[in-house]
Amino acid sequence: MPLDPGLVRGAHAFVFDAYGTLFDVHAAVARHAAAVGPEAARLSEIWRAKQLEYSWVLSLAGRYEPFWTLTERALDYAFARCPSVDRRVQRALLEAYRTLDAYPEAAEVLAALRRRGFRTGILSNGSPDMLASAIASAGLARLLDHVLSVDAVGVFKTSPRTYALITEAFGVDPAEVVLVSSNRWDAAGATAFGFRSVWVNRAGLPDEYDDLPPAATVRDLSALA
Ligand code: 2OP
Repeated sequence: MPLDPGLVRGAHAFVFDAYGTLFDVHAAVARHAAAVGPEAARLSEIWRAKQLEYSWVLSLAGRYEPFWTLTERALDYAFARCPSVDRRVQRALLEAYRTLDAYPEAAEVLAALRRRGFRTGILSNGSPDMLASAIASAGLARLLDHVLSVDAVGVFKTSPRTYALITEAFGVDPAEVVLVSSNRWDAAGATAFGFRSVWVNRAGLPDEYDDLPPAATVRDLSALA
């Protein structure tokens, strides 16, 4: 179902979260599922959960490490929790994470938004080099006006300093931005900042963060086109 026209009226830019929203974070393990073995899904879930946990803990402690470092540490931890998985696949999983598959509708939705006159961008926890390789691999670079990494401010989402990168880069007010994320906690942070947030609930998860609702919830990106 397409977005309510009222949601996009007056919007100037659609800005997307990267990992989980444009790129499938579980594609790295899926690409090597045979080598990883029966604990593949568990390894990937722990890897993602720890990657994010580390970003929140460091930010709350006033510390920062590049997201790639957190991604490597989280995978190390996931292997420690899944001893049945052969560690010889670890390097291949990290390499795969640099070229994660984009969701099938991502390129067309970005192109459609630009045809409608909206500017487009990414705001991600990802380190600049991580983002550059994933965007290049998926062929999305020509469809993006700005690629913004929180590395520029040395703190992770949901710090308001990260969302301010968008209003500064696009030269707009928060209310003129539609922030699209599959991460409900990111949509909550975006709502807190004043963006019109759209939660991409691909897995049909229960809602949460009742005090910070999204402006809309969709099942995949195609509702935005
Ligand atoms: C991103 O910032 C939250 O990992 C997600 O791209």
